Amino acid sequence: MATIENGSRELAGKRALVTGGSRGIGAAIVRQLLDEGAKVLTTARSGTSTVPEGASFVPADVRTRAGARALAEAAREALGGVDVLVHNAGGARPYEGSSAIPDEAWQDALDLNFLASVRLDSLLAAGMRERRSGAIVHVSSAAVPAPVAPFLHYTAAKAALENYSRGLALELAPFGIRVNTVTPGRTATPGGQETRQRWASLAGASEQSTATTPLGRDGRPDDIAHAVLFLVSEKASWLTGSNLVVDGGEFPRG
Ligand SMILES: NC(=O)c1ccc[n+]([C@@H]2O[C@H](COP(=O)([O-])OP(=O)(O)OC[C@H]3O[C@@H](n4cnc5c(N)ncnc54)[C@H](OP(=O)(O)O)[C@@H]3O)[C@@H](O)[C@H]2O)c1
Repeated sequence: MATIENGSRELAGKRALVTGGSRGIGAAIVRQLLDEGAKVLTTARSGTSTVPEGASFVPADVRTRAGARALAEAAREALGGVDVLVHNAGGARPYEGSSAIPDEAWQDALDLNFLASVRLDSLLAAGMRERRSGAIVHVSSAAVPAPVAPFLHYTAAKAALENYSRGLALELAPFGIRVNTVTPGRTATPGGQETRQRWASLAGASEQSTATTPLGRDGRPDDIAHAVLFLVSEKASWLTGSNLVVDGGEFPRG
C-alpha cells in the first residue's frame, strides 16, 4: 500500500493493539497499520494462521474480564505500552425476533460489542494518560440507527458503545488522548456474510449478493480500515468524539 505522505511512514514508532485481527475488517486494519510502520499486536479466539504477516498474535476472548486483563498484560509485555487501540472484534447471530433472543445472547452481545471496549480502555488508557497521548477507535455498526428485531441485542450494544465512546472522548481529551468511532455499513467479510446468510434463512430467503448501497457496492474491509487509519493518524489530531460512518450512503441517520 502507498504511504500517506511522501514516503514517510505515518505511524512509525507507534504500538498498536487491534482486537479481532484474524480476518475481515480487523485483518485489513492490522495490514494498514503495519504498512504505516506501526508495531501491531492482535488477538482473536483462534486463527493464528490467518493473522497478517508481521503482526504479533495472542489468543484471547475479549468477552470476559479475565480475557481483557490477559490481553492488556500481553500488550504491555509484547509492545511495552499501547499508543493506538482499535476495538474491532464484534458481531452477533440473529434470532427470529426480540423475544427469541435468550438472556445469554443479550449478555454475550453486550460483553463482545460494548463491555470488552470499556474494560480494555480502562486497563490501557492509564498508560496513555501518563504519556499524555494516544488514539482509541471503537468499531460500531451502521445498523444502529435502523435497528431490526433479529439484531436488537447487537444494535443496542453498539448504540451503548457509541454513547460511551463520545463520553470517553470528552473525559480523555485533556490528557491528549483522542477517542473516535468508525461505523461500517454492509461490508464483505466472513462474519458479515455468515450473519447475513443466517438472517436470510430465518426469513426464508437466500442471501442477496447484489449491492444495495447508493454507491453501488458493498464495503470492502480496506474501506473501513482506511477510516481507522486516518483517525489514529496525526492528520486527525483535532478529531475526537467523532463518528465516521463508512457505509456507501446506505443507512438513515438521525
Ligand atoms: N461486516 C459487516 O458488514 C459489518 C457491518 C457493520 C459493523 N461491523 C463490525 O465490524 C467489526 C468487524 O466485523 P467483521 O465483519 O470483520 O467480523 P468477522 O469477519 O466475524 O471477524 C471478527 C474478528 O473478531 C474476532 N473475534 C470474535 N469474537 C471474539 C472474541 N470474543 N474475542 C476475541 N476476538 C474475537 C474473530 O476471531 P475469532 O472468531 O477466532 O475469535 C475475528 O478475528 C465488528 O465489530 C462488527 O460488528 C461489520
